[in-house]
Amino acid sequence: MKVIENVQEMQDFIKGARAKGLKIALVPTMGFLHDGHRELLKTGRGLGDVLVLSIFVNPAQFGTKEDFKTYPRDFEKDLRIAGECGVDCIFAPKAGDMYPEGYQTFVEVTEASKNLCGESRPGHFRGVATVVLKLFNIVMPNKAIFGKKDYQQLVVIKRLAEDLNLGVEVIGVDTVREPDGLAMSSRNSYLTEAEREAARCIPEALKEAEKGFLKGERDSGAVVGTVKKIIEKEPSAVVEYIKVCDKDTLADLDRIEDGALLAVAVRIGRARLIDNRILGKDKEGGRSKKCSA
Ligand code: PAJ
Repeated sequence: MKVIENVQEMQDFIKGARAKGLKIALVPTMGFLHDGHRELLKTGRGLGDVLVLSIFVNPAQFGTKEDFKTYPRDFEKDLRIAGECGVDCIFAPKAGDMYPEGYQTFVEVTEASKNLCGESRPGHFRGVATVVLKLFNIVMPNKAIFGKKDYQQLVVIKRLAEDLNLGVEVIGVDTVREPDGLAMSSRNSYLTEAEREAARCIPEALKEAEKGFLKGERDSGAVVGTVKKIIEKEPSAVVEYIKVCDKDTLADLDRIEDGALLAVAVRIGRARLIDNRILGKDKEGGRSKKCSA
């Protein structure tokens, strides 16, 4: 397994691989890898001849009051997991190489970035879209793999790839969960034992809401109410948003249809946790398993 820190060296490595006709699969991450990342790598391993894992805690996507400085990092463990997942090359650039002095170019996916996390994290998706576009330009992947846990991010990246004719196929992978249902996240490491216990209210609330939908509830306010009630039973949980949206445009929905996106952001202690669930049948892909994003 190769570890490359330098942008130019990465580009040279990829040019060599592409000249041989090899297909490149890229899994972009910020490191501190867990089983969710493993699943992305497993998917990527099956899709490309050369599997590249990028590890870069991207300063451009963190707000000034957010956790950039304290974001968890463990490169040794990441190396081990990457090895186990059959990664061919880790690209771990330094911030100064990605954003050298004088850097001033940013890309914005306007509509898809507005709702949900876009409201509470202004500039976040601009930072994500910019770094992912840079990673695509450097690594030139044929396929890039993202998780549905960050559903809005996946929609933003799909739009970016399509709108800018990047020629990269963006693939979404289902959310990997802990045995009690909590979506895996590097930020779960911020939770104390009691907070971790409280956090299970998030997947439980989403599940209950889907039960209501399957019994015939179509009013988005009622479904949001169910989720809110369950989460707010936990005194440590502070709801940032609970919304039902169109899964492709992310526009708010009043009436829910099959395949709508129910998405939440909740603060528990130091952690800001997001999760989502597709309600009912996903029109494109069957029961909640696959979806277009
Ligand atoms: P990070 O949070 O490290 O996540 C990297 C990828 O792993 C993302 O595509 C994310 O959706 C996916 N992922 C995280 N937890 C998951 C889970 N429980 N199940 C399935 N997939 C999961 O997302 C980022 O980094 C950054 O914003 C990045 C795209 C790398 C740009 O900086």
